[in-house]
Amino acid sequence: MTTDSSNPYDVAPYQSYCYEFTSPDHLHTIGRLFGMRPPDYRSARVLELGCASGGNIVPMAERFPKARFVGVDLSDRQIARAKALAATLALKNVDFHALSIADLPEDIGTFDYIIAHGFLSWVEPDIQAALWTLLARRLGPGGIALVSYNTLPGWHAARPVRDMLLYHCARFDSPADKVREASALLEFILAAAPQADESYRQLIRRELDLFRKADPSYLLHDHLEAANHQFYLHEAVAKLRAVGLEYLGDAHLPRMYRMNLPAKTAQSFSNAADVTVLEQYLDFLNNQRFRISLVVHKGTELNRSLDRARIREFHLASRLQPRDRVPIDLARDQAVPFEAPGWPGFTAQRRAAAALLLVLSERNGRPISAERLIAEAAALAKIRDHKSVAETLIDMGMPLALSGMLTLHAEETPDTGVVSSRPVGFRPARVLARDQAFVPTARLTTVRLDESQRRVLSMCDGTRDHAALQRESGAPAVGPLLAGLARDGFLIG
Ligand SMILES: C[S@@+](CC[C@H](N)C(=O)[O-])C[C@H]1O[C@@H](n2cnc3c(N)ncnc32)[C@H](O)[C@@H]1O
Repeated sequence: MTTDSSNPYDVAPYQSYCYEFTSPDHLHTIGRLFGMRPPDYRSARVLELGCASGGNIVPMAERFPKARFVGVDLSDRQIARAKALAATLALKNVDFHALSIADLPEDIGTFDYIIAHGFLSWVEPDIQAALWTLLARRLGPGGIALVSYNTLPGWHAARPVRDMLLYHCARFDSPADKVREASALLEFILAAAPQADESYRQLIRRELDLFRKADPSYLLHDHLEAANHQFYLHEAVAKLRAVGLEYLGDAHLPRMYRMNLPAKTAQSFSNAADVTVLEQYLDFLNNQRFRISLVVHKGTELNRSLDRARIREFHLASRLQPRDRVPIDLARDQAVPFEAPGWPGFTAQRRAAAALLLVLSERNGRPISAERLIAEAAALAKIRDHKSVAETLIDMGMPLALSGMLTLHAEETPDTGVVSSRPVGFRPARVLARDQAFVPTARLTTVRLDESQRRVLSMCDGTRDHAALQRESGAPAVGPLLAGLARDGFLIG
């Protein structure tokens, strides 16, 4: 890759989104879970490699004003955008460098957290090697790095689609033409080859679905990018161990746990000595396609035995909602089913369990400390003995967290969850909503907004009441729209 206009990220910048799982508070949380005492994320030095237009670290710099952030990317055009965004927000705690990671200045120092999301698979082997060396040299003591990559065996299945699209789209010049023609080709194949075998059709349908949900830059820089290298977990682990690093875990806990397998299969892994061996087999079973590996220095003291009582050390959030829209009787124990789209769901058998999940569901994904959760659930179910509610949380909390239906956090997020009389939106969201559909929340997640939502959000600076927002934005019904923005984590006042 070069710095001239042949750099594909200068020609068509990557849509730069915010990912909460890359945030230093999340890395800190996973480190604590596995027995580390990682550096305080609120005052940490954080480096992002391949930071694109700053869509990830600028919202983080806003959220953690005492931490210092450095973003590095080879693309001048993207770094110019990142700098402009930080300048618009007058952020003093973030710097950007338009450089190859192989050319970082010697005096850049070390970092408590290093993020290389969407990087390793998209660079050639010399830069991959530079990444592993850089992590070994630039990760400070007790620090945690994140490296994500396209993974095998899952990517094997997608390869024929990538190969066919690369071949087909080579004859088109502009990124817009390539994106349009790629989808058109897949749609054509689906329509014109009705007799093709069903597994092939399923593969095409799945990739088309992915394109439709994602921004066009995903298609350009994943399937159509010249560099797209895929690795087995064991290959990435061998590389990081060779430079004196060690595997901590995955940023997404369910990718690590055998209890997410059928009982008999899980049993067969109970003796795996090295967690990475177990996880490699999990990848074979799940046909894993992407991984977000966390990395520490070799010799870092870790404790992987997850005592259930430790759930009380964390802030907790969940997307689970009661399945049935009927009032729940919390005066007695009964089965209450909870569900979340894309998850297996959970049925609370005891009233304390139902109360805990109800408190979480009313917060719509906003983290709450375990102690406050216990107190609020006890009050809701009118249970005087808080100890029994705490025991219920200890009983179900860790299994739910390892299955992904409960998430662990370091602290409460700044969004209020309610709509005030003069709403205030998260500042990076207000700025970015003017130009893009995928907008960062105060929880550091990314949510796709429609045009009315974007217009209203960009006006939520605390000076306008609902009538003014309605009048000036021309949005059809500002009340439900603001409620949606509050629910998704955009409103901080
Ligand atoms: C697939 S994009 C991912 C961007 C972002 N991290 C994300 O996940 O949204 C890869 C990024 O790496 C940058 N890049 C490629 N080679 C690089 C190098 N040698 N040094 C620094 N950045 C590089 C590209 O310009 C691009 O912005």
